Amino acid sequence: METNGIINSAMNFNQQVELPKNPLPIVIIGAGGIVKDAHLPAYTLANFKIKGIYDKAQLKAETLKNKFDIVEKVYHSLKDLIEDGVKYNAVFDLAVPANLHAEILEQLPDGSAVLMQKPMGENLEEAKRILEICKRKKLVSAVNFQLRYAPYMLVLREMIDKGLIGKVYDMELKVCVYTPWHLWNFLFQLPRVEILYHSIHYLDLIRSFLGNPKKVYASTIKHPKMKDLASTRTTMILDYDEFTQARILTNHGHEFGLEKQESYFKIEGTKGAIKIRIGLSMDYPRGLPAKFEYILLEDKEKKWKEIKIKGGWFPEAFVGTMAGLQRHVLDKNLPLPHSTEDAYNTMRLVEAVYKSSDKGGVKSSSIR
Ligand SMILES: NC(=O)c1ccc[n+]([C@@H]2O[C@H](COP(=O)([O-])OP(=O)(O)OC[C@H]3O[C@@H](n4cnc5c(N)ncnc54)[C@H](O)[C@@H]3O)[C@@H](O)[C@H]2O)c1
Repeated sequence: METNGIINSAMNFNQQVELPKNPLPIVIIGAGGIVKDAHLPAYTLANFKIKGIYDKAQLKAETLKNKFDIVEKVYHSLKDLIEDGVKYNAVFDLAVPANLHAEILEQLPDGSAVLMQKPMGENLEEAKRILEICKRKKLVSAVNFQLRYAPYMLVLREMIDKGLIGKVYDMELKVCVYTPWHLWNFLFQLPRVEILYHSIHYLDLIRSFLGNPKKVYASTIKHPKMKDLASTRTTMILDYDEFTQARILTNHGHEFGLEKQESYFKIEGTKGAIKIRIGLSMDYPRGLPAKFEYILLEDKEKKWKEIKIKGGWFPEAFVGTMAGLQRHVLDKNLPLPHSTEDAYNTMRLVEAVYKSSDKGGVKSSSIR
């Protein structure tokens, strides 16, 4: 037990989101890797009931039904799933490649509750279309930007909100890992990969703390051993006011072992700093345990200290996006921070950084 008053309050930080009192049932579209590794384990933890699951590859849906007790049924068509979804007042949980979102949303009845996987379409045009469909059909819709709800992010947000590290002026997110891109067949041949499918979580996370940046600078580049993929290494700078900046640095091709791999989110404020090891990407999808460290300038010991974290990005954070949507569906007075409207701003930011990478930069040869 810590002795310093500030630290004691830090020890009590909540690491779990609030669950809906009477959870709604869920129907899932897509039975791929993310549903196996994160959605269903998270819903098992939260005691959510899955009325059924549909995948065009039926065997995948059957396999998940056999693996997870909470799944009641495998549907043989999207139409049947939608019919039952309406009958049971279920939340529609979309976990298919992003280019399919719009056509599936069009088929849902007006007013349905829906959580769709990120990204919100494969480009800004698709994101606009998705937003338009959600508005026209009055869907209560959210995008699965779950990193905001990882246990360590909940602690971080509470520490910032309580003013413990003062005014935040610097955020740095670095991943230097070896990502098994082959797990996602659909990514090969796509014009955008790393930022749209991975760093989008970090852009969304940073937006959730600092809002939309004034200006961005970015460069995203391919890996010589990943020629079939679009760029997988990125540097992004998000500028806010004259004192506030965030940086995202990613390299998914570090094939030299876990020893020198890195995956952290570091936050500096006028009164303290926090560094979180986000272990997931270091041995994806198993991951290493998360580590949360902080230092407060007021602390007489002037030492970095640790808050023990229970759980991580997979699967705990996935409870947050579903629980938050359900609580909002059940009580419209509760906010929906990961709403489709908010997610659209993350998609705008993705577009801005790709544009900066394509068009920005000063040609060194132009300086004589
Ligand atoms: N942290 C995260 O939030 C996270 C992590 C990984 C993937 N994802 C997202 O989840 C989505 C799925 O990714 P994944 O890793 O599970 O990929 P995956 O390739 O393992 O699974 C996709 C599944 O969709 C199914 N499918 C394709 N077209 C379909 C259709 N018309 N109807 C029904 N099912 C269809 C495929 O058969 C497959 O089982 C992607 O949008 C991806 O960006 C999110």
